[in-house]
Amino acid sequence: MKTLSVLIIGLVFTISQAWAQQQHSVKIPDDIQKLLQQYACLACHKADAKLIGPGYIDVSKKKYTEKQIVELIYTPKPSNWPSYPPMAPMKHVPEKDALKIAAWINSLAKKHS
Ligand code: HEC
Repeated sequence: MKTLSVLIIGLVFTISQAWAQQQHSVKIPDDIQKLLQQYACLACHKADAKLIGPGYIDVSKKKYTEKQIVELIYTPKPSNWPSYPPMAPMKHVPEKDALKIAAWINSLAKKHS
C-alpha cells in the first residue's frame, strides 16, 4: 500500500511538473523573434515574464484587438500599466509588422489561459 501511494504521488508530481513547464515556456516563432529583435522590443519585453515592460502573455490577457495593440505600439498608454515606466512610442515599426506582432501576442492568450 505504501509503495503504491509513493508511486502515485511520484506520478502526479511528474505530470504536474511537465504541465507547469509547458505553461511557462513560450516558444517565440522564428519570424516573430526576428521582428521583435529587429525593432528592439526584446530589450524590454519577454514573452512570458516581466522585464522592463510586461510579458507579452500578460498583454494578451487584456484582450485587446490587434488594431488596438498596433495603436498602443505607436502611442503607448502608460496608465494601462501603472507599476511600469512609460514605454517610448515605437513609430518606426511598419504597420504590417506591428500587426504580425499583435496577432502573435493575442495567440498567447488562447494557448495559455
Ligand atoms: C525601452 C523599453 C521598451 C521597448 C524597447 C519596448 N517596450 Fe513595450 N512596453 C514597455 C513598458 C515599460 C510598457 C508598460 C508601460 C507602458 O505601456 O507605457 C510596455 C507596454 C507594451 C505593450 C502593452 C500596451 C498596453 O497599453 O497594454 C505592448 C503591446 C508593447 N509594449 C509592445 C512593444 C513592442 C511590439 C515593442 C517593439 C516594437 C516594444 N513594446 C518595445 C517598454 C518597452
